[in-house]
Amino acid sequence: EEIPTPFQLPQGAAVVEPPLTGVLVPPQVCWLSPEQTAGKQKPYMYTQGQAVLNRSFFPCFDTPSVKFTYSATVKVPEGFTAVMSATSWEKQKDNTFVFKMSQPIPSYLIALVVGDIVSADVGPRSRVWAEPCLIEAAKKEYDGVIEEFLEVGEKLFGPYVWGRYDILFMPPSFPFGGMENPCLTFVTPCLLAGDRSLVDVIIHEISHSWFGNLVTNATWGEFWLNEGFTMYAQRRISTEVYGLPYTCLEAATGRALLRQHMDATGEDHPLNKLRVVIEPGVNPDDTYNETPYEKGYCFVSYLAHLVGNQSKFDAFLQAYVNRFKFQSITADDTLGFFLEYFPDLKEKGVDTIPGFEFDRWLNVPGWPPYLPDLSPGQQLMRPADELAELWAADGLNMEAIEAVDIMGWRTYQLVYFLDQVLQKSPLPEGNVERLSKMYPKISKAQNAELRLRWCQIVLKNNLEAEYSKVKDFLHSQGKQKYTLPLYRAMWGGSEATRALAMEIFSATAPQLHVNVQNYVKKILGLGGAEA
Ligand code: BES
Ligand code: ZN
Repeated sequence: EEIPTPFQLPQGAAVVEPPLTGVLVPPQVCWLSPEQTAGKQKPYMYTQGQAVLNRSFFPCFDTPSVKFTYSATVKVPEGFTAVMSATSWEKQKDNTFVFKMSQPIPSYLIALVVGDIVSADVGPRSRVWAEPCLIEAAKKEYDGVIEEFLEVGEKLFGPYVWGRYDILFMPPSFPFGGMENPCLTFVTPCLLAGDRSLVDVIIHEISHSWFGNLVTNATWGEFWLNEGFTMYAQRRISTEVYGLPYTCLEAATGRALLRQHMDATGEDHPLNKLRVVIEPGVNPDDTYNETPYEKGYCFVSYLAHLVGNQSKFDAFLQAYVNRFKFQSITADDTLGFFLEYFPDLKEKGVDTIPGFEFDRWLNVPGWPPYLPDLSPGQQLMRPADELAELWAADGLNMEAIEAVDIMGWRTYQLVYFLDQVLQKSPLPEGNVERLSKMYPKISKAQNAELRLRWCQIVLKNNLEAEYSKVKDFLHSQGKQKYTLPLYRAMWGGSEATRALAMEIFSATAPQLHVNVQNYVKKILGLGGAEA
């Protein structure tokens, strides 16, 4: 007898034989065919819980305001390994894995992967997991560097309570850069740049070990409590490890993303405030944007500015984590604790300074009223600003351009340079072709952050000769933050780029995560979800 299906299978998604006969396959447990993996030999399955997808994985109170411990027993076919976001795990006979998470966590942090995966140690409490064909590269990328980030995090924010910190490299269709599943961060394989240049994503996910995973936003409307504090923590760790100039440069690229977002939506869009109203029936994922990250970062930086002393503010963050660990809280708890911790500031009424009211930060959309000073990054940004000016000029001053040697620049300097070029685009006729020839390090880059920007420049300048690069990039990975901007650029462009968008989407749709598929459909007017 047929069982009525409460779930719709993701359209076009390849379903590996039903895992158990008669069990319905919910849409947010992702089943990948062998072709959708890096090794192309065996199928793969993974879950992505944040924000509200785990309700289709197991019965739960699927809200970040409820925390619980869990254990799980997972039986897999011969030749497969199961891993979960758990404090302990054990392989028993019959390919059965037993997991236990002994700290209370919200439902969205439970995650499972089953695939042909292997591991390699990269530190005293860390290993990398990946498909066999990626494990060498994965080990090389992060061998010996993770422990330092954990130690700096512990020094700044207090004990790391999760036991292990492992990293799992996901198949190319994983929609995020990183996902902070406790004990086991999931990351995109795009991070395998060969030079550790994208390590800020790892530092970000490590920072969630305190902000997000220990102290959790009670509702998705206050997501900035997770992401804004994590951006701040990430940049504190980065400052300790890599110094202020580099960290300010990275923060400047973040600020550019916020600028782009607000320009695209209008500053007073209701999503451009820190406390977002999510009406019943609205999927929190559909409210996702740069504001909780970068405006949230500005607000935390503003709180630090009010304190006026970095070590005092660091001590506050540590006390904050200690006060609210294993709890779910709102911004009122955070700000109430801040004023309680600094009674002199409370007395001065810092929460009601005209123009900078805490209430305005939370409830009024728009550009942050306070921006942290990023001028220590000027030594790295200025050469990039100047070079972008030169390339935007009408008659190119090749002598001045050739005098600048970008070969020694760090990836984020190049990213910053490309953001400036993109902002000034379209450039005068012919300039982008010459730029492309002059800097194969950029136009033929393998680094995903550089590829994204180069593709955006190619599209904004209608550089038809290089449209194939957009296609190649979108065929190689499915990260949401890379995929959507490129489809928006193609759809907002010429007849030719619109056709290109349709062609690429029809070829790659089955490989994309179902959420990303729906957002692209929306952009292309194919009737997908709200974006
Ligand atoms: N927790 C997020 C990813 C996420 C957010 C998944 C909302 C589902 C819903 C993660 O920590 C994150 O922010 N990742 C960023 C990394 C970055 C800011 C360094 C990403 O994926 O780009
Ligand atoms: Zn995050």
